[in-house]
Amino acid sequence: MASLDTLTLPLDPTSAADLAASGLEYERVDADGEGFRPFQRAVARGFLGGESTDDEAENARKTLRTRRLTAVYDRRGVEPAVPVGTIDSWASELTTSPGRVAPLWSISAVTVAATHRRRGIARAMIGGELRTAAAAGFAIAGLTVTEATIYGRWGFSPAAWASDVQIDTGRARWTGPTAPGRLDFVPREAVVDRVAAVHERVRIQRPGSVPGWDGRWRGIAGLAPGDKSGEKVRAVAYRGADGDETGILVYTIDERDDFSAHELEVRALFAVDAEASAALWRFAIEHDLVGRVKAWLQPAVPPVQWMVADRRAVTATLTDHHWLRILDVPGALGSRRYAGALDVVLRVADPLGFAEGTWRLRVGADGEAVVTRADESEASEVELTVGALSSLLLGGVRSTELAHAGLVRAGADVLVSVDRAFTPEATPLLDIWY
Ligand SMILES: CC(C)(COP(=O)(O)OP(=O)(O)OC[C@H]1O[C@@H](n2cnc3c(N)ncnc32)[C@H](O)[C@@H]1OP(=O)(O)O)[C@@H](O)C(=O)NCCC(=O)NCCS
Repeated sequence: MASLDTLTLPLDPTSAADLAASGLEYERVDADGEGFRPFQRAVARGFLGGESTDDEAENARKTLRTRRLTAVYDRRGVEPAVPVGTIDSWASELTTSPGRVAPLWSISAVTVAATHRRRGIARAMIGGELRTAAAAGFAIAGLTVTEATIYGRWGFSPAAWASDVQIDTGRARWTGPTAPGRLDFVPREAVVDRVAAVHERVRIQRPGSVPGWDGRWRGIAGLAPGDKSGEKVRAVAYRGADGDETGILVYTIDERDDFSAHELEVRALFAVDAEASAALWRFAIEHDLVGRVKAWLQPAVPPVQWMVADRRAVTATLTDHHWLRILDVPGALGSRRYAGALDVVLRVADPLGFAEGTWRLRVGADGEAVVTRADESEASEVELTVGALSSLLLGGVRSTELAHAGLVRAGADVLVSVDRAFTPEATPLLDIWY
């Protein structure tokens, strides 16, 4: 059972020793202590942001109070209190099958000062997180990434993909269903609770998703201090015929010189069911004076493509989004439901050791898995790296495709059985950044 109170877990001694050997200090940062502002300054600088105001820092503090903040200091510097490395993490949960979740060690705010790059600081911080997470019983770690080149070396690999969507509203023409319920504008102040409520229902059904948090929703609602377009945020909620609020769209409209070609930017569109989704997309596409609708983190093949006359009016740019890293093979593979029976021996290579070994995955006709360590002498039928296994976990990619890329080795018939069993009940998606 994963420990959910990550704030009390000790610092990883291996990372502390590695950093000390370079004259660096590795410390936990208290969100309510004096180390917080310098920590936050270092994070903002790492992500190329400006210096934050007191209001912005207070806003960030509200979220970061619940997180494990760790920093690396070079005390010989001009500003010894400002970290040269930052990372934060927290106990989240990953939906692995509709209605089913696994504890997830979520990582964010990974920055290293540009003056201290490529000296192994990130390596020490990420290694420290993975060892701490594994020791605390987390079977899976996860993050979202700025660059696809960084995290593969630590066994992370994409497990859920998302599309950035643009719709040329002049071409699209709605042909989708007519939703029977109603849309109403809701005031900005009411957006946070409403988005939270709808998203909670959505994320629990969608493999690859994680819960949001108050700060994330305040940002989407335009209520975060320093948000220059906050005043322009509008929201509409959808209620079905029975009065249940099943969808919400939060957006801004960017004005263009051509008055009929303004751009509607979706900040959030969460819908519990197809009916709410149709109502909200139709509202966006048919909005007066809007020539383009833009939305991020949509399903790989966005459902709205099937609801317009000209599907090419909807362009979708696919990107890897949720990167996962299996730390405990039985815990991770046992956390989801499968589509069919399977009995297979996997040989997993993991240079960091966590998932290394030979494992037997047995799935019964009921879709429930039992994973045990196999005898090393047992012939393995599938050979793969921990990254490949992490990508396969939710069924977002087929083992056959990874085999084509040389990342999985198995006989053709074994690959077919694996793919059949791993077929997800819903395509994995992560609909927020973290
Ligand atoms: C990405 C970042 C954290 C790396 O920190 P770092 O301390 O320089 O990394 P390390 O020295 O520990 O590097 C470890 C390995 O990762 C590689 N690496 C580091 N950053 C990389 C990058 N951006 N692209 C590709 N490889 C990278 C290093 O070359 C090294 O490889 P090696 O072990 O094969 O020699 C740092 O460059 C940074 O703060 N970038 C801006 C903020 C950011 O993008 N953070 C990531 C958020 S998801």
